[in-house]
Amino acid sequence: ASEQDLSKKKVLITAGPTYEKIDPVRFIGNYSSGKMGFALAEECAERGAEVTLIAGPVQMKTVHPNIKRIDVESAQEMYEASIANYPSADAGILCAAVADFTPQVVADSKIKRKGDEMTVVLKPTQDIAASLGKIKRNDQLLAGFALETNDELQNAQSKMERKNFDFIVLNSLQDQGAGFRHDTNKIIIIDKNGKTEFPLKSKREVASDIIDRMVSLMK
Ligand code: C5P
Repeated sequence: ASEQDLSKKKVLITAGPTYEKIDPVRFIGNYSSGKMGFALAEECAERGAEVTLIAGPVQMKTVHPNIKRIDVESAQEMYEASIANYPSADAGILCAAVADFTPQVVADSKIKRKGDEMTVVLKPTQDIAASLGKIKRNDQLLAGFALETNDELQNAQSKMERKNFDFIVLNSLQDQGAGFRHDTNKIIIIDKNGKTEFPLKSKREVASDIIDRMVSLMK
């Protein structure tokens, strides 16, 4: 896909997990590798876009010169970078696996082993997707991902509406080789006109399908 159908467009992408600190040496994280978000960033850059990639802690390199990468660690940092950069973007794709909860207090020294039980009290993080959905203008597009374990289609569709997404990408958990850490993915794209199911493909080919949909909705 070397067609320059995104030239002069700015795209914001979030990718990877977030780490929520418990104490100076421990955190709550998740298994997101960042592969899907980085594939989307490369695809957009090759098609001519100027990309801002907001990345949580991942072992991934960005190669394309048109990708400006902002490395963050926590959900709060990802929120701040996203809110600051979305107003100047034509489209946002939210691919990061953001923590929904974070420790209410971060211990300032390493927590010691003590007693039979240990409790960490969590408070909710900011919902980046819902926040960007609220500030989205008519000339902007917003898309997100959903990974559901039950009532997949209904949950993804209501998530799309709740967060004011133009389309949502449903990752299948049912299929071998789809989702977290894999190099392949199997998706369903849902927008207001209905759903499109795609076969199992490499994440780079999946990125191309997703960006095709984004481009067609930007017109
Ligand atoms: O509600 P849920 O976390 O399943 O929604 C998934 C979508 O919302 C993804 O696109 C994800 O990147 C985004 N999200 C976000 N900020 C959060 C939680 C989820 O941007 N705090």
